Amino acid sequence: MFQLFLFIILATSCHCYFTSPGKCPEGVTLQQDFRLAEFFGTWHQAFHYASDHQHLSNCSTLELQTQSSGIYLNISRVDRGLFHRYSIGALEIPTSLDNAAKLDVTFTFKDAPRRLMKRQYPFRVLATNYNYYATVYTCSYSPLIDKHYIYVWLLSRKPSLNVVSKELAMKPLQQLGIKEEDLIKEDTSNCSPKYYEDVKSEPVTFRFPVVVKV
Ligand SMILES: *[C@@H]1O[C@H](CO)[C@@H](O)[C@H](O)[C@H]1NC(C)=O
Ligand SMILES: *[C@@H]1O[C@H](CO)[C@@H](O)[C@H](O)[C@H]1NC(C)=O
Repeated sequence: MFQLFLFIILATSCHCYFTSPGKCPEGVTLQQDFRLAEFFGTWHQAFHYASDHQHLSNCSTLELQTQSSGIYLNISRVDRGLFHRYSIGALEIPTSLDNAAKLDVTFTFKDAPRRLMKRQYPFRVLATNYNYYATVYTCSYSPLIDKHYIYVWLLSRKPSLNVVSKELAMKPLQQLGIKEEDLIKEDTSNCSPKYYEDVKSEPVTFRFPVVVKV
């Protein structure tokens, strides 16, 4: 009976995205003296890295927006070559200046079961010069299987990243053990998909480690 119960839980909360062994890397060096005010506006995703090697979307852009209730991150993209979708998360700003690049983003899903309603993910700025490039990463850990998942954004102010900016953007990835050949170039050849969804949807860049209490 217990085994059946456990099976049902595991089957409904997939931990298969978590493929890298152990916890998230510690002591990762982030952008020094990060200035959020200069990070506002639109960024194009030029390359990405996903440790589970899933490639779910193209034509992604990230936009930081201010609203009366706070600062929001709008991640827009074309999913599976067919759907224009976006996800909006609230940006958590660190109180200490020393940790200025240590951002978190929280997505709220009103219709989800209670424990899954609010999902917070790290959104850490590894490097940026604000005008050309930015390197951001997130990491989630699944205690259940002792594995983690990493997603890296190589962002560009222009639709494509120039060679020099790409080199600079890639530098901090050494500490995560990510090489140039691991990066996937964004496909922007078809950014006008068939379907346009104007409601918020689940982000495809984060993986939520459901905590199972047995
Ligand atoms: C999010 O960004 C996309 C693409 O720029 C845009 O179409 C959409 O309206 C934005 N959503 C909000 C609520 O600003
Ligand atoms: C975009 O990504 C999907 C994978 O989700 C892929 O099948 C497709 O060929 C890509 N390119 C375009 C132009 O949609």
